[in-house]
Amino acid sequence: MALRTIVFKTDDILRKKCKNVEIFDEKLGILLDDMAETMYKANGVGLAAPQVGILRRAVVVDVGEGLLELINPEIIKAKGSQRDVEGCLSCPNEWGYVVRPMEIVVKAQDRNGKNIQLKLKEFFARAVCHELDHLEGRLFIDIADEMVDPSELEEENNDNKKKGRKK
Ligand code: NI
Repeated sequence: MALRTIVFKTDDILRKKCKNVEIFDEKLGILLDDMAETMYKANGVGLAAPQVGILRRAVVVDVGEGLLELINPEIIKAKGSQRDVEGCLSCPNEWGYVVRPMEIVVKAQDRNGKNIQLKLKEFFARAVCHELDHLEGRLFIDIADEMVDPSELEEENNDNKKKGRKK
Protein backbone atom coordinates (compact mmCIF):
# COMPACT_ATOMS: atom_id res chain seq x y z
CA MET A 1 0.00 0.00 0.00
CA ALA A 2 1.08 3.53 -0.61
CA LEU A 3 -0.13 6.99 0.16
CA ARG A 4 -1.44 8.96 -2.80
CA THR A 5 -1.47 12.72 -3.11
CA ILE A 6 -4.86 14.33 -2.49
CA VAL A 7 -5.65 17.01 -5.05
CA PHE A 8 -7.24 20.28 -4.01
CA LYS A 9 -10.26 22.13 -5.29
CA THR A 10 -8.21 24.34 -7.60
CA ASP A 11 -7.31 21.24 -9.64
CA ASP A 12 -9.51 20.86 -12.74
CA ILE A 13 -9.53 17.10 -12.36
CA LEU A 14 -12.07 17.47 -9.54
CA ARG A 15 -14.47 19.06 -12.04
CA LYS A 16 -14.49 16.18 -14.50
CA LYS A 17 -17.00 13.37 -14.74
CA CYS A 18 -15.49 9.98 -13.99
CA LYS A 19 -15.70 6.95 -16.26
CA ASN A 20 -16.94 3.54 -15.22
CA VAL A 21 -14.48 0.97 -13.99
CA GLU A 22 -14.52 -1.81 -16.55
CA ILE A 23 -11.52 -3.89 -15.58
CA PHE A 24 -11.49 -5.47 -12.14
CA ASP A 25 -7.82 -6.31 -11.92
CA GLU A 26 -4.93 -6.08 -9.51
CA LYS A 27 -4.42 -2.44 -10.44
CA LEU A 28 -7.91 -1.60 -9.18
CA GLY A 29 -7.16 -3.44 -5.92
CA ILE A 30 -3.99 -1.43 -5.47
CA LEU A 31 -5.86 1.82 -6.14
CA LEU A 32 -8.51 0.93 -3.53
CA ASP A 33 -5.89 -0.09 -0.95
CA ASP A 34 -4.01 3.16 -1.54
CA MET A 35 -7.20 5.22 -1.35
CA ALA A 36 -8.13 3.66 2.01
CA GLU A 37 -4.65 4.27 3.40
CA THR A 38 -4.70 7.87 2.16
CA MET A 39 -8.17 8.46 3.64
CA TYR A 40 -7.20 7.06 7.07
CA LYS A 41 -3.94 9.01 7.13
CA ALA A 42 -5.85 12.23 6.43
CA ASN A 43 -8.47 11.44 9.12
CA GLY A 44 -11.21 11.42 6.51
CA VAL A 45 -14.35 9.32 6.35
CA GLY A 46 -14.45 9.01 2.59
CA LEU A 47 -12.36 9.46 -0.53
CA ALA A 48 -13.20 9.31 -4.22
CA ALA A 49 -10.76 8.29 -6.97
CA PRO A 50 -10.69 11.76 -8.63
CA GLN A 51 -9.36 13.12 -5.32
CA VAL A 52 -6.18 11.16 -6.00
CA GLY A 53 -6.20 12.12 -9.67
CA ILE A 54 -7.93 9.03 -11.10
CA LEU A 55 -11.05 9.71 -13.18
CA ARG A 56 -12.77 6.40 -12.46
CA ARG A 57 -15.95 5.61 -10.56
CA ALA A 58 -14.47 4.22 -7.33
CA VAL A 59 -14.90 5.43 -3.76
CA VAL A 60 -13.95 4.31 -0.26
CA VAL A 61 -15.94 5.22 2.86
CA ASP A 62 -15.45 4.45 6.54
CA VAL A 63 -17.76 6.24 8.94
CA GLY A 64 -16.70 3.99 11.79
CA GLU A 65 -18.57 0.92 10.62
CA GLY A 66 -15.74 -0.63 8.63
CA LEU A 67 -14.31 0.06 5.21
CA LEU A 68 -16.74 0.13 2.31
CA GLU A 69 -15.50 0.09 -1.27
CA LEU A 70 -17.97 1.06 -3.98
CA ILE A 71 -17.20 0.65 -7.67
CA ASN A 72 -19.56 2.18 -10.27
CA PRO A 73 -22.00 3.18 -7.50
CA GLU A 74 -25.50 4.47 -8.24
CA ILE A 75 -28.18 5.69 -5.89
CA ILE A 76 -31.32 3.83 -6.88
CA LYS A 77 -33.58 5.11 -4.10
CA ALA A 78 -33.47 8.13 -1.81
CA LYS A 79 -35.82 9.02 1.00
CA GLY A 80 -36.20 11.91 3.44
CA SER A 81 -33.70 14.67 4.03
CA GLN A 82 -31.08 15.79 6.53
CA ARG A 83 -29.04 18.99 6.80
CA ASP A 84 -25.63 19.02 8.46
CA VAL A 85 -22.09 20.33 8.18
CA GLU A 86 -19.71 18.76 5.66
CA GLY A 87 -16.07 19.16 4.88
CA CYS A 88 -13.87 17.67 2.18
CA LEU A 89 -10.26 16.51 2.10
CA SER A 90 -9.90 18.48 -1.15
CA CYS A 91 -11.20 21.70 0.44
CA PRO A 92 -9.15 22.14 3.62
CA ASN A 93 -10.68 24.38 6.28
CA GLU A 94 -13.96 24.85 4.46
CA TRP A 95 -17.18 23.74 6.09
CA GLY A 96 -20.76 24.14 5.08
CA TYR A 97 -24.30 22.91 5.53
CA VAL A 98 -25.51 20.49 2.88
CA VAL A 99 -28.93 18.91 2.55
CA ARG A 100 -28.74 15.19 1.75
CA PRO A 101 -31.24 12.32 1.70
CA MET A 102 -31.77 10.68 5.08
CA GLU A 103 -31.76 7.22 3.58
CA ILE A 104 -30.45 5.80 0.32
CA VAL A 105 -30.25 2.49 -1.47
CA VAL A 106 -27.00 2.24 -3.40
CA LYS A 107 -26.18 -0.28 -6.07
CA ALA A 108 -22.51 -0.87 -6.88
CA GLN A 109 -19.85 -3.48 -7.52
CA ASP A 110 -17.14 -4.67 -5.21
CA ARG A 111 -13.45 -4.85 -6.18
CA ASN A 112 -14.05 -8.20 -7.86
CA GLY A 113 -16.93 -6.92 -9.97
CA LYS A 114 -19.60 -8.62 -7.92
CA ASN A 115 -22.90 -6.68 -7.66
CA ILE A 116 -23.79 -5.32 -4.24
CA GLN A 117 -26.75 -3.36 -2.92
CA LEU A 118 -26.86 -1.51 0.39
CA LYS A 119 -29.37 0.49 2.36
CA LEU A 120 -27.65 3.32 4.25
CA LYS A 121 -28.91 6.04 6.56
CA GLU A 122 -27.96 9.23 8.31
CA PHE A 123 -24.22 10.04 8.36
CA PHE A 124 -23.32 6.95 6.31
CA ALA A 125 -25.80 8.01 3.59
CA ARG A 126 -24.41 11.56 3.70
CA ALA A 127 -20.83 10.34 3.27
CA VAL A 128 -21.73 8.14 0.28
CA CYS A 129 -23.72 10.97 -1.38
CA HIS A 130 -20.72 13.29 -0.94
CA GLU A 131 -18.38 10.76 -2.59
CA LEU A 132 -20.78 10.08 -5.46
CA ASP A 133 -20.89 13.82 -6.15
CA HIS A 134 -17.10 13.73 -6.62
CA LEU A 135 -17.60 11.19 -9.43
CA GLU A 136 -19.75 13.78 -11.23
CA GLY A 137 -17.21 16.55 -10.74
CA ARG A 138 -19.30 18.17 -8.02
CA LEU A 139 -17.97 19.46 -4.69
CA PHE A 140 -19.92 20.13 -1.51
CA ILE A 141 -19.03 23.82 -1.73
CA ASP A 142 -21.18 23.97 -4.92
CA ILE A 143 -24.29 22.82 -3.13
CA ALA A 144 -23.78 24.02 0.46
CA ASP A 145 -26.61 26.38 1.45
CA GLU A 146 -24.50 28.06 4.12
CA MET A 147 -20.77 28.06 4.74
CA VAL A 148 -19.53 27.88 8.33
CA ASP A 149 -16.67 29.74 9.94
CA PRO A 150 -14.19 27.03 11.10
CA SER A 151 -13.75 28.81 14.46
CA GLU A 152 -17.44 28.28 15.19
CA LEU A 153 -17.00 24.55 14.67
CA GLU A 154 -14.08 24.50 17.09
CA GLU A 155 -16.32 25.88 19.79
CA GLU A 156 -19.16 23.59 18.97
CA ASN A 157 -17.33 20.30 18.57
CA ASN A 158 -14.10 18.67 19.51
CA ASP A 159 -11.40 18.44 16.88
CA ASN A 160 -11.87 14.74 16.25
CA LYS A 161 -15.48 15.19 15.31
CA LYS A 162 -14.53 17.97 12.94
CA LYS A 163 -11.88 15.81 11.33
CA GLY A 164 -14.33 12.98 11.02
CA ARG A 165 -16.52 15.07 8.79
CA LYS A 166 -13.94 15.32 6.03
CA LYS A 167 -14.65 13.34 2.89
NI1 NI B 1 -14.90 15.34 -0.65
